[in-house]
Amino acid sequence: MERPAPAEVHMSQGIQPAHANPRGELSAGQLLKWIDTTACLAAEKHAGVSCVTASVDDIQFEETARVGQVITIKAKVTRAFSTSMEISIKVIVQDMATGVEKLVSMAFSTFVAKPVGKEKIHLKPVTLLTEQDRVEHNLASERRKVRLQHEDTFNNLIKESSTLDDTICDEEEGTISPGVTSVQSIELVLPPHANHQGNTFGGQIMAWMETVATISASRLCQAHPVLKSVDMFKFRGPSTVGDRLVFSATVNNTFQTCVEVGVRVEAFDCQEWSEGRGRHINSAFLIYNAVNSKEELITLPRIKPSSKDDFRRYRGAIARKRIRLGRKYVTSHKEEILLCIHWDIHNQESLSHGNVEALKKLAAKSGWEFTSAVDKMKIYTLEEYDVLSIWVEKNVERPAHVAYHLLSDFTKRPSWDRHFLSCEVIECVSENDRIYYITCPAVNGDKPKDLVVLVSQRKPLKDGNSYTVAAKSVVLPSVPPSPQYIRSETICAGFLINAIDSSSCTVSYFNQISSGLLPYFTGNIGGWSKSIEETAASCIQFIENAPEDRCINIS
Ligand code: COA
Ligand code: ADP
Repeated sequence: MERPAPAEVHMSQGIQPAHANPRGELSAGQLLKWIDTTACLAAEKHAGVSCVTASVDDIQFEETARVGQVITIKAKVTRAFSTSMEISIKVIVQDMATGVEKLVSMAFSTFVAKPVGKEKIHLKPVTLLTEQDRVEHNLASERRKVRLQHEDTFNNLIKESSTLDDTICDEEEGTISPGVTSVQSIELVLPPHANHQGNTFGGQIMAWMETVATISASRLCQAHPVLKSVDMFKFRGPSTVGDRLVFSATVNNTFQTCVEVGVRVEAFDCQEWSEGRGRHINSAFLIYNAVNSKEELITLPRIKPSSKDDFRRYRGAIARKRIRLGRKYVTSHKEEILLCIHWDIHNQESLSHGNVEALKKLAAKSGWEFTSAVDKMKIYTLEEYDVLSIWVEKNVERPAHVAYHLLSDFTKRPSWDRHFLSCEVIECVSENDRIYYITCPAVNGDKPKDLVVLVSQRKPLKDGNSYTVAAKSVVLPSVPPSPQYIRSETICAGFLINAIDSSSCTVSYFNQISSGLLPYFTGNIGGWSKSIEETAASCIQFIENAPEDRCINIS
């Protein structure tokens, strides 16, 4: 049997009906409680004293676990700072009938050592046993920076983003006022909810928050809400046995198929309770999808804010969504993972076909979520476990075949896309397939990057189909990586162009963002979508302003 490392704890639980919701799925609140307990036990194993949850990073739930299955949680201290330590948490579900294991979630939380009395404890360093331990140890300080800047990042984005206003819903029909979804609830903290020093377990508070947030979400969806993620949050102050905890929840905003519910928690001891003066101990933001009886995602009604608080929260939800997407990729993708698709002229047909198919499949995936709209463009994002995909849809006042002609020539790209420094053809494989060598400017003090990319362009086979320009990295022995550049990769990117009428079209740009290209999108966590908007605006200008003589004789 695998034995946990020194600062590691494993917990396995068989899922019983008492742990499940009416659909027989493990309740997210119960899972959050188990996660926090396991992480706390790992922290205390390292610290040798009682520990409390200081904060929890974004948690995404990738799989639903059901009654009869077994949940295993592995928690490990990745790094001890001074009084605090980071814990990595991995949750796996195993189906006992098939033996198949699936990843439910990967998360990080921070615990602070809290011995009895006022004295601060300084933690010993973690023993690093494997290469993976060393990698995680290094990444832990990066994640800590993101965590400690969390509130500032949010406040800055709210201050900067005047463009957030343009998505405020001004329709009446089919919209819902946040007040309809408002929920208030109360809990009394009893000894089973707290550790032996009487401090309320963070996981218990999370479970209670999830209960009220789910009620709020179901008032909006009128269907079954499924918790998809919880935003990073901090436990601002302690609560103890005897406290009354008051939970207030409401829906802040909806994004096509997902909804953000906010929960505020205030604690009152007996005296504070009679005086009506509570302590704000925590606020969290939970993201839900809703499914119908066929398990399909449903499109949610839009929120119509009316009070000043409604508007603040509505905008806050948009800012948090932007930060969440940016953060996911800053913290989890520091290492370059090279896909190594080797170019082989004998296999050219299949590689080019695969290139075009991958782009079409990406476009056809379900789960694209509307993220923002500015002027003539809309941005959608698709979050899969370790990949973020972006879809920017723009209306262009030029015929589809002209846009196709201009966009399929990648040598023009540096003139409108500032992420491209240079781009030259290194192999003309066929009339419709070329291999390009691309260089990108240095970002965040790193070396500049370069890429070798196969671009495959296809005209529609019959009327109504899209023009396609697909791009994917390939490995070409004649262009080996060089010391001046970091070799980067495009997993799947490109354009699908559809005619609207004879003089205008929609250009959809897709990119499955790889780790190497990420800094170009996330240079500043909140600003990543702004950078996409700027590039898209410049692309529209390039197509619309291209001189007529460059577009004649093409159809
Ligand atoms: N995320 C991660 N770590 C954080 C943090 C955050 N949002 N905010 C503070 N910390 C870390 C600090 O970096 C510091 O770590 P270090 O000593 O390793 O450098 C440590 O927490 C203490 O920070 P400090 O500035 O001295 O204290 P604080 O006034 O910010 O208080 C807590 C931090 C967590 C101790 C305090 O907010 C608290 O007691 N919260 C309630 C904890 C609790 O009871 N949880 C259970 C549920 S109620
Ligand atoms: P903010 O209101 O700025 O978002 P808070 O920390 O006060 O920040 O609240 C966090 C979230 O809790 C809010 O976004 C909202 O969703 C919910 N909330 C706060 N107060 C109430 C309330 N009185 N009624 C219903 N929900 C509330």
